[in-house]
Amino acid sequence: MEIPTVVYLAVHHVEDILQDRDLKQLMAELPQHDRDRIGRFRRPRDQRQRLAGTLLLRRALSRAIGCDFENVPIQRTTRGRPFVDSLVYPGDFNLSHHGAWLAVAWTAHGRVGVDLAGIGQVRLKVAQYVCSNEEIAYLDSLAEEPQAQALATLWALKEAYTKAVGFGMSRQAQQLSFRPKVGQPQFTLFGADPAWTFSVLEAAPATVAAIATDRPHQVRSASLTPLESPRVRVDL
Ligand SMILES: CC(C)(COP(=O)(O)OP(=O)(O)OC[C@H]1O[C@@H](n2cnc3c(N)ncnc32)[C@H](O)[C@@H]1OP(=O)(O)O)[C@@H](O)C(=O)NCCC(=O)NCCS
Repeated sequence: MEIPTVVYLAVHHVEDILQDRDLKQLMAELPQHDRDRIGRFRRPRDQRQRLAGTLLLRRALSRAIGCDFENVPIQRTTRGRPFVDSLVYPGDFNLSHHGAWLAVAWTAHGRVGVDLAGIGQVRLKVAQYVCSNEEIAYLDSLAEEPQAQALATLWALKEAYTKAVGFGMSRQAQQLSFRPKVGQPQFTLFGADPAWTFSVLEAAPATVAAIATDRPHQVRSASLTPLESPRVRVDL
């Protein structure tokens, strides 16, 4: 049996990352292309979210690669997926934002995608555009509360998979069909390479995180803030 790759997952609140630091000072620590990308967001809350995500990603990679925070050589594909040259880091990483929550996942082997989804925030009307017939039948069989949970879970799984592959969410999402494994927080995907494996975790209040990898994996929680850091929260 293949040894599962370890996926590290860090979930943090935006304010745990930004703390009470001066935003201009934090921005100044980033390369120009990151500053430009964050600066393109107009609303302050979006800028804070993107800044915190960028800092989190750099922190994770500086730990994974073993280089200085400001020297992490992050590039982006034409579709916007961040990556690092495989000679520098043979593994993979991915980031997701949901409101004030951020998740970054990284692994030393293979591809990884992560997505956060809010329970009760994905509408059933949207499901018909992203879910397979089998998934819709499953959702229809559920009462309101478990249905909201299942919908967020399916959404996060599809996003995590498409983000791992690097294409982003598309209509092809309907061709992916997830089925829960009985008694396990894991899912099987039909309609794609069977080597892919998936996990779902409760990441934050009313928020699920899905992880997709192109091989067996186990998830380990990681923290990218000092434990003694102040937790001043501002709802976005
Ligand atoms: C990328 C995408 C999946 C993001 O999904 P989302 O649920 O709205 O947002 P999330 O917070 O979960 O993920 C965003 C993060 O994923 C990463 N990301 C961006 N593009 C990505 C892609 N194509 N694949 C994987 N990850 C991507 C980035 O780190 C991004 O955050 P950042 O820009 O602050 O660094 C979605 O916007 C999408 O489908 N985009 C389509 C991209 C595309 O194909 N464009 C066509 C251009 S030719």
